[in-house]
Amino acid sequence: MTELINMVDEMVEKKEDKPKSKVVSLGLDVGTMNLVCTRSDSNNIKMIRNVFLELDPETVNISELTDISYVEGDESEIFIIGEDAFKFANIFNQKVSRPMEKGLISPKEISAIDVLTLMIKDIVGEVRDKEVYCSFSIPAEAIDENRSVSYHENVFSRILGSLGINYTSVNEAMAIIYSECAKEKFSGLGISFGAGMANVCLSFKGIEALKFSTARAGDWIDKQVAESLNIIPNRVTSLKEKHIDLSTPSGGKGRNKKDNLVLQALYHFYESLINYTIKKIIKEFEEKVDIEIDDKIPVVISGGTSLPNGFLELFKSVLNRYELPFEISEIRQAKNPLVAVANGLLVRTMSDVKNK
Ligand SMILES: Nc1ncnc2c1ncn2[C@@H]1O[C@H](COP(=O)(O)OP(=O)(O)OP(=O)(O)O)[C@@H](O)[C@H]1O
Ligand SMILES: [Mg+2]
Repeated sequence: MTELINMVDEMVEKKEDKPKSKVVSLGLDVGTMNLVCTRSDSNNIKMIRNVFLELDPETVNISELTDISYVEGDESEIFIIGEDAFKFANIFNQKVSRPMEKGLISPKEISAIDVLTLMIKDIVGEVRDKEVYCSFSIPAEAIDENRSVSYHENVFSRILGSLGINYTSVNEAMAIIYSECAKEKFSGLGISFGAGMANVCLSFKGIEALKFSTARAGDWIDKQVAESLNIIPNRVTSLKEKHIDLSTPSGGKGRNKKDNLVLQALYHFYESLINYTIKKIIKEFEEKVDIEIDDKIPVVISGGTSLPNGFLELFKSVLNRYELPFEISEIRQAKNPLVAVANGLLVRTMSDVKNK
C-alpha cells in the first residue's frame, strides 16, 4: 500500500528528468473507443481512436498516404487507423470498422486482432533492448451480457506477449482507484463510463470488494437516440461530443430544431443510463458485499461519457433519489477522465515492478 502511494507521488514528478533505465513500465487502457498508453520514461500520453479502415492495396498508392496514420498487414493490406479512418471512410464512402464492441474484442471483425496488434505496437512505442512490464485494462464480467471476458483477456495477453512485453491484467474501474484515491488509501467506488461499458469497482483499502460491468455507456446512449429519432448513430455521437450540455434538461442548444431534438433525447438517455447504473450498484452491493464498511467512501467518476458539462451534477441528483447501502464522503470526477485508467494502470505496474 505505501508502495502504491509512493508511486502516485513519484508520477507527479517529471518522469523525463530521470535517467533512462532498461526497465520500462506501461499502463495500457484498452477501450472500445480509445486506446491509451502511459509510459514510465515519458510524460507523453499516447491515445488513438480504436477504429480502422481496410483499403485495397491495389486501389491506393502508399506514397499518397503521407501524414496519414496507417499500418500494413502481413499480406500487404493497408489499414488506416485512428481519427484518419473517419476521413477516408467519408472519401471512399465506406464504414469504419471497430475492433471492439461493448468493451470486448468484436466477434464481427476478422482483422480485429491483427489491427489491434499494430495499433498497440504504434502507441506503446520503442521497446527494443528494454525490459517492459505492462498492466492492461480489462472489464469485469457484465451483468447484462454473456460474452466472455477471459477470451478478451487472452487475446490481449497474446498481443502483448508477441511484442515481447510482460503483462498483467487489471480491472478498469480499479485502475481509477489507483489513479485518483491515494489520499483515501485506495478506498473508493470507481465508475468508468466509457463507450461500450460502465465499469464499477468498490475498493476497500486497496482490495477489490465488488466489481461488475454493464453493457450500457456512450454507445448505448447514441444507439437509443438514433433509434428514437431514426438517424444514424455516428451523427448522434458527433453532435453529442460537440454540443451536449447536461446542466439543462433541454440538453443545450444546437444549430437548428432537429439538433435540439437530438440534444433533448441525449439528455433523456444520459439520465436513464445514470439511473440504470446506480440501481445496479445498489443491487450488486446488497447481494454481494459482505464486509462491513464503516468509513465513508468517495465515489470517483471517470470515462469519456462523463465529460459533458453538468454530468457530475446530474449523477448527484439521480443518486439523491435513492437510499444507498453505504456512506459517501464525496462524489468527484477524475482529474482527466480520458486518461485516468491508463494513469492508474501505470501506478500499478510501477508498484509491481518495484516489489519484484
Ligand atoms: N466531449 C465529449 N462529450 C460527450 N461524450 C464524449 C466526449 N468525448 C468522448 N465522449 C464519449 O465517451 C465515450 C468514450 O469514452 P472512453 O474513451 O472512456 O471509452 P473507452 O474506454 O474507449 O470504452 P470502454 O471503457 O467502454 O471500453 C464515447 O461514447 C464518446 O462518444
Ligand atoms: Mg474505458
